[in-house]
Amino acid sequence: MSVATGSAGNALDPDDFPSNPSTARHFNELVEARLSRRSVLTGGMLAAAGFLTTSVVGTRTAAARTPHGGGHGGGHGGPGGALLGFQPIGPGTGDDVVVPPGYTARPFIPWGTPLLGSLPAFVPGSRDAGVAGGNTAEEQGQQVGMHHDGMTYFPIDHEHGDEHGLLVVNHEYTDEYYLHTGAYVEEYTEVARDSYTQEMVRKSQNAHGVSVAEIRKGHHGEWELVNSPLNRRITANTPIQLAGPVAGDRLVTTDRDPSGTTALGTMNNCANGETPWGTYLTCEENFNGYFALEGEDAPGFDPAQVFGPEDAQLLDRYGVGGDRFNWATNDRRFVVSPREPHEPNRFGWVVEIDPFDPRSRPVKRTALGRLKHEDATVHVTKGGRVVVYMGDDEVNEYVYKFVSARNWQSMRAQGKSPLDEGTLYVARFDENGTGVWLPLVHGQGPLTAANGFASQADVLVKTRLAADALGATPMDRPEWTAVDPRTGTVYVTLTNNTRRTAANAANPRVANKWGHIVRWDEQGGDHRATSFVWDIFLLAGPGRDSATPEGSTILAEDAFGSPDGLWLDPDSRVWIQTDGSQPGAANNQMLAADPYLVDDAGQPEVRRFLTGVIGCEVTGIAMTPDQRTLFINLQHPGEDGGSSWPHDDEFTTPRSATVVVTKDDGGVIGT
Ligand code: FEO
Ligand code: CA
Ligand code: CA
Repeated sequence: MSVATGSAGNALDPDDFPSNPSTARHFNELVEARLSRRSVLTGGMLAAAGFLTTSVVGTRTAAARTPHGGGHGGGHGGPGGALLGFQPIGPGTGDDVVVPPGYTARPFIPWGTPLLGSLPAFVPGSRDAGVAGGNTAEEQGQQVGMHHDGMTYFPIDHEHGDEHGLLVVNHEYTDEYYLHTGAYVEEYTEVARDSYTQEMVRKSQNAHGVSVAEIRKGHHGEWELVNSPLNRRITANTPIQLAGPVAGDRLVTTDRDPSGTTALGTMNNCANGETPWGTYLTCEENFNGYFALEGEDAPGFDPAQVFGPEDAQLLDRYGVGGDRFNWATNDRRFVVSPREPHEPNRFGWVVEIDPFDPRSRPVKRTALGRLKHEDATVHVTKGGRVVVYMGDDEVNEYVYKFVSARNWQSMRAQGKSPLDEGTLYVARFDENGTGVWLPLVHGQGPLTAANGFASQADVLVKTRLAADALGATPMDRPEWTAVDPRTGTVYVTLTNNTRRTAANAANPRVANKWGHIVRWDEQGGDHRATSFVWDIFLLAGPGRDSATPEGSTILAEDAFGSPDGLWLDPDSRVWIQTDGSQPGAANNQMLAADPYLVDDAGQPEVRRFLTGVIGCEVTGIAMTPDQRTLFINLQHPGEDGGSSWPHDDEFTTPRSATVVVTKDDGGVIGT
């Protein structure tokens, strides 16, 4: 996410502020230069350790040009077997979405689209209306929310699933000026805190959360929103069940919910995942900034004295406070006080939603840990266990995985959620190219009552503190994870970390302005494994053949920075979306990489596929099963002003929206 700061244009991103005090220790432990994965693999030590027993690793050695389009269920290779068949485009600077020749991109279900209830039309307000213009809070609760982010397409049935489904979309946060006035501006303007009313807070809360939208391809081949009883809005006030080890724990009880089992709402829903049993996972990322600490502006404010050591440590480690969206001005729930200190502990979870049952209560799956969850990529591994890969997006935070206790089908047959029982791990990336998954299990290693972890619930509410104690590797802001469907190789985007002062093997650049992508293979190809072998997929930036390479490994013609959204399609194309600084001050963009087609320098082929509009990030990715419709999102166009995308005939208001991309010949996206 990025945050508007008015005309300065130099956005202050809350993810840039480290709240992890344990990084120096780990830097010191990882002082040696990394060996590349290639040299490790050829060194023989991994063969002895059992890593070379799978064909997965073989795809990366000298014979990297694995043929495509055969042998794995009818893939869609391009000419010569390469995965990427489209003509790459140049960097974007304008206010239109650009895709390669032969492709078409159309905006779809922008913020404010009537979705359910009385289907209230979008009313943008006007610049002269001052604040609280446009739709009411109640109307916003019946419309598509703001700031589209992660999303999943669920086919409605097998026969017509390529043309009819549910699109489930996260709404990460709000640009409050546009929310309350809807005006086009040359420069974005903050709304004054003292002008906030309860109605404005409710409208902001109703613009957050998740939308479920039934969509289908119309007669002219264009996707349309269906007026359906399945359409739903989940907001920052929707009742949500707490499940797993933390449900009912002392650290999640409040005056309003003394049982500690029913939270209200979900917010800052960033990226996502989907389960093999057909549910949606939405991830609570920067929840910390929605709260005010009572008295935090007073001189000499000392949280330890006000809240006591345990609560103060938790609030500090998660960076709670600041009231970024002014909700605390009119909603006491967002004021953290000594009498009511636990409300923030009810956020920072992965939330499961059944999109096919609009009456179902969403569930916070606490076994997956509490962090600034970026996304939750689900992979089924040996024995039918589900593994969930997750990043904690803040500077110097960690990469996690959860492994279900047993086969997911047998657990569900017993009426249990595979996401409630299992083991959470955090990653340590060692300098020799191997890594270890460290279990976050109460009673093991340092995770004991003597160290402040009285139970498994404590370990999970305090996930970051537990991971610190285990010696996990601090990373350059872990964003999305993704799994190669062919090989099981796992990827993670590390978007940037300009505050890094000492490199480690997996984060090799100090003041990492442009970000990079790390990948790994689990030992023996088994995602339950507790060890892995990793390498760096690419280092983003201006390009290794540019005048100022800044350590980048890509080519200048593919220059990009701040990789964030990430997905491997069924043919193993690596789709990379950006959110943040781009070389040449270009707009944010989406690129595709072929991980199997490497050049003489050992680097994967990358091509730019889409460029976004002024001020937006490109995020969220989903495809129909036939891979012939691609859905992506443009979030916060014009966040610093200057955009009127999606150029509606009636309004100049910049609005986050989905973009539907199709190939004009009806072909597979990316070929
Ligand atoms: Fe919500 Fe880390 O991007
Ligand atoms: Ca981001
Ligand atoms: Ca993101």
